[in-house]
Amino acid sequence: FKPADLGGLKLTITAGPTREAIDPVRYLTNHSSGKMGYAIAEAAAKRGATVTLISGPTNLKTPAGVERIDISSAEQMHQAAMEHATTSDIFIGCAAVADFRPADVSEQKMKKKDGEDDMVIRLVKNPDIIACVAALDAQRPFTVGFAAETQDVEQYARGKLARKHLDLICANDVSNEGQGFNSDQNALHLFWPQGDKALPLTTKAELGAQLVSEIVSLFKAGK
Ligand code: PMT
Repeated sequence: FKPADLGGLKLTITAGPTREAIDPVRYLTNHSSGKMGYAIAEAAAKRGATVTLISGPTNLKTPAGVERIDISSAEQMHQAAMEHATTSDIFIGCAAVADFRPADVSEQKMKKKDGEDDMVIRLVKNPDIIACVAALDAQRPFTVGFAAETQDVEQYARGKLARKHLDLICANDVSNEGQGFNSDQNALHLFWPQGDKALPLTTKAELGAQLVSEIVSLFKAGK
């Protein structure tokens, strides 16, 4: 049992994948289930925090006491994130945001053309949501990113921490089977400018609770 000791603290968390439309029936996406982000939201709400969950399409139930905002594309997630970031104490970007979207979205279903055996879809860069939040001048929240890596985890995670001007980054090695995308378990390695801490493999529910404790203590230490 944990007391409702986070009363008065507002967290905004992004979770799940984004969908980038190609035409009315097709889209680009990834394997994020939303489980990790929802677990963090649930753990923070259980401790009395005010939690807004900005969610891509998932099959998950909204955790009790959490305000959920459903979005589909990275641009929609960006807009919702910027609306909530400045009133949040802590912003956690757990979503697997598509880095690119189709440059042109066809209004009608795209048709195969006789004699054409390949096609090219031009992609343009999506806004980097977590970097935009971290770049806020006034009312900037304590900004926590995730890093999904398949090799050289510390080097790439620390690179993202510095490049995006984050306060903390939570790295997961998504090449390990049974953790990361769409599994019920995960392990994280946290990196911040002056330190690091490994949170070993466990359920996402337990990891979400541990992570909320780590984030809150770093947030309070920086205040
Ligand atoms: O949803 P699950 O199935 O439970 O899986 C959990 C998870 C593996 C998706 C999660 O733990 C995780 O690692 N989330 C981040 C995935 C990701 O997109 O990582 P990245 O290294 O590509 O991005 C780095 C950071 O920038 C992330 O905080 C991401 O949210 C953010 N980002 C990325 C691109 C973009 N355009 N805008 C962003 O804000």
